[in-house]
Amino acid sequence: MNLLITGGCGFIGSNFVRYWLEHHPGDHVVVYDKLTYAGRRENLQELWGDPRLRLVQADIADLETVRRSCQEHGTDLIVNFAAETHVDQSILGPLVFTDTNVRGTHVLLEVARELGIRLHHISTDEVYGHIPDRHQSIETDPLAPRSPYAASKAAADQLVQAYHITYGLPVTITRGANNVGPYQYPEKAVPLFSTNAILGEPLPVYGDGRQMRDYAHVFDHCTGIETVLLRGEIGEVYNVGTGREMTNLEMVGIVLDTLGKGHDLVRHVTDRPGHDRRYSMNVHKLRALGWEPRYDPRQAVAEAARWYAEHRGWWEPIRSGEFREYYARQYAERLADQEQR
Ligand code: NAD
Ligand code: DAU
Repeated sequence: MNLLITGGCGFIGSNFVRYWLEHHPGDHVVVYDKLTYAGRRENLQELWGDPRLRLVQADIADLETVRRSCQEHGTDLIVNFAAETHVDQSILGPLVFTDTNVRGTHVLLEVARELGIRLHHISTDEVYGHIPDRHQSIETDPLAPRSPYAASKAAADQLVQAYHITYGLPVTITRGANNVGPYQYPEKAVPLFSTNAILGEPLPVYGDGRQMRDYAHVFDHCTGIETVLLRGEIGEVYNVGTGREMTNLEMVGIVLDTLGKGHDLVRHVTDRPGHDRRYSMNVHKLRALGWEPRYDPRQAVAEAARWYAEHRGWWEPIRSGEFREYYARQYAERLADQEQR
């Protein structure tokens, strides 16, 4: 099979490309990636000499290049990981989220329709919005996104479903919980807190830190997507997570304990605007296809923290580059305000 994997140089995409080539050795993969700040060739460093893997550096919103890539490589399946993915970035500069997440996905759907290609779309639990205590989102729940990022992902989901209903395009969608693991850009909480702790810098916890997340290992997300690609029903949506949540403060405690650092590094800073208090998904539909997660969330967070301790060579160049400007913009005032309290 010939796969076009968009966003394959990002966090989950690179883990998925590595997983897929290992478990499906007869397949060929084109990684189609714009290489934004979050996309890094080195995330697939050891694989670039492999004749089964190619890179096309381009934008998913560029219809001509998407079409040409699919035609030249005889694409059977598009797996769309490409997106702007960080909620805080979507609050600072939201328009690019519409360009990539909505228009980009729409372009992929148009090419898939024209050339008759199956499309699998990677979505998120954030499309369900804040989840009240005791409820767990199921795939048919109404979408109620609350950040520019989540709204752009919900719009993309609805376009994907509309193409199935209107044109009969063979599509599937997976909605993932908060992923952790190797190669996650350090703007996200677990790699940010791990690398700050390793550097002895404060950990900026938003608000009271009692928000609930399902921290799932990226390996389990990859096997969940594989399960849907191989056994999922066309036109259907599947949640992918562990179904178990913890508070951010619990997550921070696991990071600090794993790295042998003191809890005095924690700083409660001004909250993220519109911060969703809780995400929680029911994953029975995916389990019914025979999938089971390998990691519980505590193991997943601890293992991720250890990876950052053991791979300083991966994240130190990132943290010393343009990331510093973002970090100052996002945290300098928050941390200074906190020190004055
Ligand atoms: P990431 O930010 O690490 O990587 C995104 C990748 O997309 C990068 O390689 C980037 O260069 C590429 N990209 C961005 N804009 C592009 C464009 N216009 N054209 C082509 N490539 C472009 O993201 P991630 O955390 O790996 O997330 C991957 C997907 O999974 C996203 O769709 C995200 O919404 C979804 N998701 C993420 C999580 C999570 O916890 N990280 C959870 C559920 C779902
Ligand atoms: O739930 C799936 C989503 O998980 C994905 O769709 C997104 O692409 C991904 O970025 C992630 O979104 P979150 O906003 O939940 O993840 P983030 O790592 O940014 O934050 C996790 C939690 O930690 C959240 O409650 C906010 C909090 N947080 C985050 C940062 C960056 C802090 O308290 N301080 C921080 O500095």
